[in-house]
Amino acid sequence: MTDIPNFSNSYWIDSLKTPDYPQLKEDITVDAAVIGGGIAGITTAYMLQKEGLKVALVEANKVLAGTTGHTTAKVTIQHGLIYNKIKNHYGEEKARMYGEANSAALKFVRDIVKEKNIDCDLIDQHSYVLAITDEYLQKVENEVKTAQALGLNAKFVEKVDLPFEVKGAVCFENQAMFHPRKYLKALCDLINEKEQCIFEDTRALDIEPGAIGDRELVVIANGGLKIHCDYAVLASHFPFYDGFGMYFARMYPERSYVLGIKTKKEFGEGMYITGEDPAKSLRYVPYNGGKLLLVGGEHHRTGQENNTMVRYENLRDFAEETYGIEKIVYRWSTQDLVTLDDIPYIGYLTQGKHNAFVATGFRKWGMTSGTLSGILIKDLILKKNSPWQELYSPSRFNLDPSLKNLIKDNAVTAKELIKGKLKNVPHTMDDLTPDTAKLISVDGNKVGVYKDADGNLHMVDTTCRHMGCEVQWNSAERSWDCPCHGSRYTVDGQVIEGPALKPLEMLND
Ligand SMILES: Cc1cc2nc3c(=O)[nH]c(=O)nc-3n(C[C@H](O)[C@H](O)[C@H](O)COP(=O)(O)OP(=O)(O)OC[C@H]3O[C@@H](n4cnc5c(N)ncnc54)[C@H](O)[C@@H]3O)c2cc1C
Ligand code: FES
Repeated sequence: MTDIPNFSNSYWIDSLKTPDYPQLKEDITVDAAVIGGGIAGITTAYMLQKEGLKVALVEANKVLAGTTGHTTAKVTIQHGLIYNKIKNHYGEEKARMYGEANSAALKFVRDIVKEKNIDCDLIDQHSYVLAITDEYLQKVENEVKTAQALGLNAKFVEKVDLPFEVKGAVCFENQAMFHPRKYLKALCDLINEKEQCIFEDTRALDIEPGAIGDRELVVIANGGLKIHCDYAVLASHFPFYDGFGMYFARMYPERSYVLGIKTKKEFGEGMYITGEDPAKSLRYVPYNGGKLLLVGGEHHRTGQENNTMVRYENLRDFAEETYGIEKIVYRWSTQDLVTLDDIPYIGYLTQGKHNAFVATGFRKWGMTSGTLSGILIKDLILKKNSPWQELYSPSRFNLDPSLKNLIKDNAVTAKELIKGKLKNVPHTMDDLTPDTAKLISVDGNKVGVYKDADGNLHMVDTTCRHMGCEVQWNSAERSWDCPCHGSRYTVDGQVIEGPALKPLEMLND
């Protein structure tokens, strides 16, 4: 069996270093504060600045190291079988708008790459959703019919350039793939061209009503620093501030896994995803004069699986059977947020408040949806409307089937909360071997203990600092992950990603 690397390492991060941007050190006043240095935040900041607004982009950690630094970066308007789903749920007009909006995002990427001569490995590719079973074939055929009726460039194909049998596929022609960090680093350079506008190690903690002059809002960052602004854009993946939008009850996080493989048989062209669960995703990246195959998939809800290494092993076995493995060069995983109706939340954070915006819930299609966030939010700020604002409105609410999903989703969350609290804690310290973690009982309290390779113990209170669920061990990433809304923590309790803003309590001393 080919070895899987012992540590997570994203190809995108490994192959392109970004500059170290300074931490915010003093209060500032801008027109728009954009929170989050992923594709949604960087694109929005770029677009607003281009329209003449003074912007500040604040990032809690390093830019492009969140989900955008761990994606597979297919830039396509084909988002699974979304068109038929939207048509059935909301009607043909909304499905048409979804296609238009994402086409505008894809066009924006192509245009700016050309205009600014951005070297980001942007390659045109056809994009395919594959049917492996007869049952899924019917769904694929329906998607083809719907997409064609909407005027999208889609067709049914019986055969694909892959070394395994498929029943058929829906192909969207002339889509694209790129290196997301090369592309977005170029946008960061443009944002920072005239003055320093990007701040790293600067975590936004709260939003309050404006305190000086006629500025409407204050974003409070770590150290109590204030960013006075007229507009705040929450592009922090999970919104760091809820504003009574109840986002925690309207989205759930899903993790997925990626292997970067030098294969024995060469991968051809195209970007693929299997329709059936657990989905497998395939694309290549140009690598050392050849190709590195990215095999992704094996998703599950965050925090609901302990032995996550098995997910990588399943991807390895699939790659071994299909292409043969020379070497697994990279492995990484990340998570994305899924909304109740599979359409992202992009627009006003809450109804009636027109100075705070959110962009989230991209369901693993954030290269176009994140780009679209910039276009849509810029239009809402400058023109006060967008043709797609209703479709993406975070305040949309539809009883069927969203309410059903909401109830189901909250039931899962409540179950996790209770299950976590009641779970027996059977392990003692003696069970621990190096590089493993367990829940143990200390004086009757539940404690998460990780023993590192040198035998040092790292002990945390496993109560999530967001809303009190019990975090679970993620063995492959060596992190504590929350099954309720996806907050993740290091072995020493530091926040890797929110919605939690505070670290887990360390119990070492
Ligand atoms: C395995 C996998 C594969 C995928 N492949 C594809 C694909 O092929 N094509 C596609 O279109 N999409 C894909 N996606 C989805 C896509 O990668 C994401 O939707 C997108 O990257 C999300 O971008 P973002 O800007 O919303 O979030 P992020 O990139 O996570 O950026 C948010 C940033 O906000 C920062 N932040 C958080 N809280 C705060 C705070 N309080 N203050 C300041 N900063 C904060 C974070 O540190 C982070 O850097 C994939 C997703 C997964 C999980
Ligand atoms: S992320 Fe919400 S309770 Fe943990």
